Amino acid sequence: MVAKGWKVYNPSGKKRVVVTKELPGDRWLKILAQADARVEYGTETRILRAREIKAAIGNRCDGAIGQLTEDWGQALFAALRKAGGTAYSNYAVGYNNVDVDAATKRGIPVGNTPGVLTEATAEMAVALTFSAARRVPEADAYMRSGRYEGWLPALFLGELLARKTVGVIGAGRIGTAYAKMMVEGFKMDFIYYDIHRNRGLEKYFREYSKFLRDQGETPVKVTRATTVGEVLENADVVSLHPLLDETTHHLINAKRLRLMKKNAILVNAARGPVIDEAALVAHCKKNPEFKAGLDVFEGEPKMKPGLSSLKNVVIVPHIASATGWTRQGMATLAASNVAAILRGWPVSTDPLRIPEFLEGTAPNAAPSIVNAKQLGLPTLE
Ligand SMILES: NC(=O)c1ccc[n+]([C@@H]2O[C@H](COP(=O)([O-])OP(=O)(O)OC[C@H]3O[C@@H](n4cnc5c(N)ncnc54)[C@H](O)[C@@H]3O)[C@@H](O)[C@H]2O)c1
Repeated sequence: MVAKGWKVYNPSGKKRVVVTKELPGDRWLKILAQADARVEYGTETRILRAREIKAAIGNRCDGAIGQLTEDWGQALFAALRKAGGTAYSNYAVGYNNVDVDAATKRGIPVGNTPGVLTEATAEMAVALTFSAARRVPEADAYMRSGRYEGWLPALFLGELLARKTVGVIGAGRIGTAYAKMMVEGFKMDFIYYDIHRNRGLEKYFREYSKFLRDQGETPVKVTRATTVGEVLENADVVSLHPLLDETTHHLINAKRLRLMKKNAILVNAARGPVIDEAALVAHCKKNPEFKAGLDVFEGEPKMKPGLSSLKNVVIVPHIASATGWTRQGMATLAASNVAAILRGWPVSTDPLRIPEFLEGTAPNAAPSIVNAKQLGLPTLE
């Protein structure tokens, strides 16, 4: 018997894994079945409440896969532990919805899905950048409304980005991929702020600059800013790619928005609360030349009042990782995390091995467990 809104795969499996949403493809189901798991997955499209997830965990549950929209805190980890659970994976690379300490305290490994979202998310940040710069949604709506009467010299003027300056805050995996797309694609100078220096990226751009010079082209400049403000003051486009924690909550506020150029573009494909959204609405209202491209929102699925009526803001519903390959890859990684822990396998700590889990022969290991060190789990490498 299974509750309404839930389906079962491999009903005879000896272990029980609860997955709060049906994931794309079927490889994830097979990976869990190979670990002898009966998989129970939610089929509702609405976001489940904690008490519904707790009910699904029930009295016996060996592992779970949850979503970034769910609050995996003390209550759910206590329920999972009580039901005998020994493994959890988030179906996301970010895990700000997970209280990792609460899981660690109960000996539960927490998996995430790094690497597979990098290019997809960076590409969406690029899409938002140019949609905002060249006013694509506004022009699209104009065309569909039948108002186009012919080419005009000043119809929908936007911003040219080639050879200007792109700024990144949070130059990790996604920030780096975005920076490379923008610098190599549009020969932009690059400025970034990150609490950790990204020497590899700096070297990459220095070499790229040398290559451009050798080709008789103007080289690009690379700057590591010492403050967030330095990026905001100097860049024509600023894309946000830090993780969300107490140091990045409202990293962009009214005061910092005022530092930006009047016609700058701000892109957020990280997490909504990195921007004070009400302050952004006020800034965009006051500065019609300023533009923003947003994939994420402070109080998702809601938006702050006034945001959706602003013409200088491009908004999409948290779809930065929404490509078939990415979402199936995330499912494979999340399932592999849980299956590996259930099978007693070690943890891989080498990000370069992630593709092996996605294609070809996967190592007998969990691809990414964020609290592996704290729990003293054995490692593969
Ligand atoms: N919109 C989406 O669908 C989507 C998809 C994937 C990831 N994300 C978000 O993007 C984030 C980044 O992903 P990633 O794979 O690049 O992670 P990452 O860990 O590789 O990069 C995060 C970077 O942020 C930096 N950082 C941390 N605190 C900072 C601070 N206070 N100021 C500046 N930089 C700081 C870190 O040093 C690191 O370089 C994730 O945590 C997630 O929240 C969103």
